[in-house]
Amino acid sequence: MKATAKANTNIALIKYWGKRDEKLFLPMNSSISITLDRFFTVTTVEFNERFSKDTFLLNGSEAGEKESKKVFNFLSKIKELAGIDLNAMITSENKVPIAAGLASSASGFAALAGAAAKALNLQLNDKELSILARQGSGSACRSVYGGYVEWQKGEKSDGKDSAANQLLPEKEWDISILSVLVASKEKKVSSREGMKRTVLTSPFYQGWLNTVEKDLETAKKAISIKDFKVLGEVVEENALKMHATMLGAKPPIIYWESGTLAVIEKVQRLRLSGIQVYFTIDAGPNVKVLCLPEDEKMVYKALLSTPGVLEVITCKPGSGITYL
Ligand code: DP6
Repeated sequence: MKATAKANTNIALIKYWGKRDEKLFLPMNSSISITLDRFFTVTTVEFNERFSKDTFLLNGSEAGEKESKKVFNFLSKIKELAGIDLNAMITSENKVPIAAGLASSASGFAALAGAAAKALNLQLNDKELSILARQGSGSACRSVYGGYVEWQKGEKSDGKDSAANQLLPEKEWDISILSVLVASKEKKVSSREGMKRTVLTSPFYQGWLNTVEKDLETAKKAISIKDFKVLGEVVEENALKMHATMLGAKPPIIYWESGTLAVIEKVQRLRLSGIQVYFTIDAGPNVKVLCLPEDEKMVYKALLSTPGVLEVITCKPGSGITYL
């Protein structure tokens, strides 16, 4: 009972920010993402009655306590679903740039869900796999699919309708996503903790909820007609709004470093010079910059020469989960 799966990470265009159910990973709002082609996790899961305990090896060595706890919690949900009581050996390779900061739980939990479900022969369809991956990390439910993806928040309290689906396959709209790594201190607040604190304490969170439906509609329409300008504008606004909710949290959460602001300014200046280029930022200091393929080289150079920028990695829309 052994299988290997590969899942790419994804970057949210319209953000998932806030849960209505912590245990089931049910979000307050729907979200939209692009699956990327350059950062991924390959995970092998083996269930065997000879194993005396669950083991999690990450990039060649036993994972830390915090990481392992999350993974074993998720594994126990899978065992429950399959109705088995066997221990497992999980071996994961995270292919993210060495300078890190770009690692994501999305590819990790999607690959783990895929490999474990296959090893146990659960015969899940994509929607069921997305629902499973969601319960490891919310954003992981989107990495089951390639290209442009929507996670519908759902209404049910059991989460059976909270799953992702593909809006547009990766091959159908070629855009460039430049992943910009900026100098930073260690990440202090996880996205899990950050969104929880924001929901509980920020007076601006309601403003987020009041406008996110409109942002989703705008983004979905722009993707369907491949309108880059409209998509870019709403992506940028949505990211800034998410960060604004955190500034109002108690205590406040500020993920940005000076390099983050320098990149924002550079993108705005490029735009003033007539280039269609837009940014988005997740729960950390790094920036993802969207542009059209014909502007990619120029934008890359401009970003790399920005103070505080350590590395720029060019990505394309990538595929959904695959089995090796
Ligand atoms: C800012 O999916 O990492 O990247 O569900 O608690 O594991 P958990 O959170 P996670 O949160 C991602 C938050 C975000 C926005 C997004 O990816 O939509």
